[in-house]
Amino acid sequence: MLLSSAGIAKMVGVVGSIGGAYVAYATHPVNVACGKLNTVLRMGSIYMSIQGYKGRQIKKYPSFSKKDIRIYLNRTEISFMLPIGLLPDEVYKKKDLFYQAFGSELEFELSKDKRRFFIKAYNQEVKMFDYDKEKIAEAVKDIPLPIVVGNTQSGLVVYNMVENPHLLITGETGSGKSIQLRSILTTLLTQCKDRVELYCADLKRTEFHIFKGVANDVVIEVDDLRKIVNNISSAMNHRGKLLNKYGLAHVDDLPEDVKPKYIVFAIDEFVLLKKQNDIMNKLEEISSVGRALGVFLILSLQRADSTTMDGILKNNLTVRMAFRASSAVNSRIAIDSGEASEIMNKEKGKFALSLDGIRFAQAPLLALDDAKAMLEPHKWKEVIESKVVDLTEEEYSTEDANEDDEVFGVLAYEN
Ligand SMILES: Nc1ncnc2c1ncn2[C@@H]1O[C@H](COP(=O)(O)OP(=O)(O)O)[C@@H](O)[C@H]1O
Ligand SMILES: [Mg+2]
Repeated sequence: MLLSSAGIAKMVGVVGSIGGAYVAYATHPVNVACGKLNTVLRMGSIYMSIQGYKGRQIKKYPSFSKKDIRIYLNRTEISFMLPIGLLPDEVYKKKDLFYQAFGSELEFELSKDKRRFFIKAYNQEVKMFDYDKEKIAEAVKDIPLPIVVGNTQSGLVVYNMVENPHLLITGETGSGKSIQLRSILTTLLTQCKDRVELYCADLKRTEFHIFKGVANDVVIEVDDLRKIVNNISSAMNHRGKLLNKYGLAHVDDLPEDVKPKYIVFAIDEFVLLKKQNDIMNKLEEISSVGRALGVFLILSLQRADSTTMDGILKNNLTVRMAFRASSAVNSRIAIDSGEASEIMNKEKGKFALSLDGIRFAQAPLLALDDAKAMLEPHKWKEVIESKVVDLTEEEYSTEDANEDDEVFGVLAYEN
């Protein structure tokens, strides 16, 4: 996967505290495992004490590096080397600490020379969980553009969309895409509205009505979506000129008084746009140059078929969440590997996350009424509840575009 080292999500939480629940925010699994191993060795005083210069005590801990940690989908393998003189019994005596840190499914192995330990820690199921407002508010507070992923083996994961631009969410009907979008967008709207402009397009007309009057705009017609895309293009032009003027490479570096907000454009069931070449071209442009300009896409679709997802667009969607896929082929189109087809039908909200490698995660469950209640205080515009119509792809027609729907928001730049 195309991810720079800068893209490796930063650790901003408390990691590896043993004995209790730990929460790791946006952490790389290798770092998490290293942190836990360090904690176990220190808390368990697993070291050899030797006399140093002027009688000073020196603690020699077992040695390991990141290369000694291997992450597989169902397990983490850890190995470390004992200093000569430290007996394996010292490790075995502290086995319980390893269980506390790495879970209950562990296998210990010792090399023939009794110096190198190998531990396999098998993953336990990541359980379903509800969206916890307070916990998530705490987790996102220092992240400029936080995307809440959900729970993984290493705890709650949140990443910064500015570093990992553009998100693709795929999965069969009923696998959990829309709930995940609801949670992601509700977080953005309630936690960082001061720095984000959010636009939502919901061509199936089933999901985004709750964001009306809270997001900058919510559209359900292709023509209105086209207006948003065109406005975003103008905004990108404007931002490009600003960067030129100041000789900078990223909008984040602009002076505070001219720094624009991030723009996030979320499209549910993006496949309905397949035949709109002009829109698809503009989206592709956003996906390739949006990063530096602070413009980001979130696209969801059932099947990432090769015609919709071919080439540039797919490569630019650096983070992918693949909920249950009907076949290994479909999974591969989405995340370049087959894991999403191993997710069972009953495992709602579970997905294969492609971000610094692939791992399973469980999205938070945010009920509609809870999302509504969270969004209510953030409304800037009264909205008359309209009837929600569910259209299938076949029923959908671009001809019933409603000219009366205005494009609201702040996307009004002159070129
Ligand atoms: N994260 C989750 N945790 C628990 N149940 C979930 C989760 N996500 C979805 N579900 C269940 O699955 C159903 C379908 O989810 P939905 O997001 O509408 O699927 P999709 O948009 O992929 O068709 C939901 O109504 C809910 O009952
Ligand atoms: Mg849906």
